Amino acid sequence: MKDLIQNLPKAELHLHIEGTLEPELMFRLAKKNSIKIPYKTIEEVKEAYSFNSLQSFLDIYYAGANVLIEEQDFFDLTWAYLLTCKAQNIVHTEIMFDPQTHTNRGIKFKTVINGITKALYRAKKELEISSFLIMSFLRHLTQEEAFKTLKDAEPFKDKILAVGLDSSELGNPPSKFEKVFKEAKKQGYKLVAHAGEEGDTSYIWDTLNLLHVDRIDHGIRCDEDEKLLEYLKENKIPLTVCPLSNVKLKAVKSMKNHNILKLLKYGLHVTVNSDDPACFGGYLNENYEALVNELGATKEDIEKLVKNSFEDSFL
Ligand code: ADE
Ligand code: ZN
Repeated sequence: MKDLIQNLPKAELHLHIEGTLEPELMFRLAKKNSIKIPYKTIEEVKEAYSFNSLQSFLDIYYAGANVLIEEQDFFDLTWAYLLTCKAQNIVHTEIMFDPQTHTNRGIKFKTVINGITKALYRAKKELEISSFLIMSFLRHLTQEEAFKTLKDAEPFKDKILAVGLDSSELGNPPSKFEKVFKEAKKQGYKLVAHAGEEGDTSYIWDTLNLLHVDRIDHGIRCDEDEKLLEYLKENKIPLTVCPLSNVKLKAVKSMKNHNILKLLKYGLHVTVNSDDPACFGGYLNENYEALVNELGATKEDIEKLVKNSFEDSFL
């Protein structure tokens, strides 16, 4: 099964580029850019990566991103992930980036996007990996700040395919971003949003009904509402599920409790993704392997999930 997972060409649809920052690169960039980080060793970073909720993770995650300053840093970050894609036989990836994590520290939008897109362009030529970019708004900030980010993106519109919504879900409902999503759709962007990771089913319903997204990121709490399950199935709404992330952030108790295969058998368009692989103990193949080892996923399950990853992509 490990060989099957390795050998199948795969697509990844839910990946935060800031969440691919491995401790080794964090230390190198911290030194180069003279940024203080609260860790002395790689072991200390790994110890800090023990979370009890989404928020406890996000606090550490945003602090880590402080080492990213120059265009070359964003290039190096993205290129390192793309080399892992090559090693794991990921042939297409749809990458999220959070401009506000950087622009709020005084880094220019163009520094971020140029570094990322130069790596994507090189990967297309040298590694034969195709990609799209998803610009995510931070939902703990205001809708006005999201509008400002949409404006910042205007000169780079040809480089960004979709708009997304991430960060702290609880207390930041989809309704807060209804207007900016409407405007993004008008401007021609595809739409995705995190929902039902920690938030209850009302967050998923509102993401569908108010934001009109093409895909739901996570969505695992959908099984708490029979009508919602039916709606997702009927309308073939893709869910980009991230099993190792859900266990690490305690959205589910353990991998054995994960509902991904139940959702798949019910007929939902679920896909497997790594979310923030440097923080959650594995990239895409390790997520698939966990489903085999701990949930008894079969060859047919894996093949269906991989097929979904292409069908639910924006290709
Ligand atoms: N940003 C990075 N990873 C995230 C996640 N799993 N949920 C919400 N926001 C995120
Ligand atoms: Zn995510």
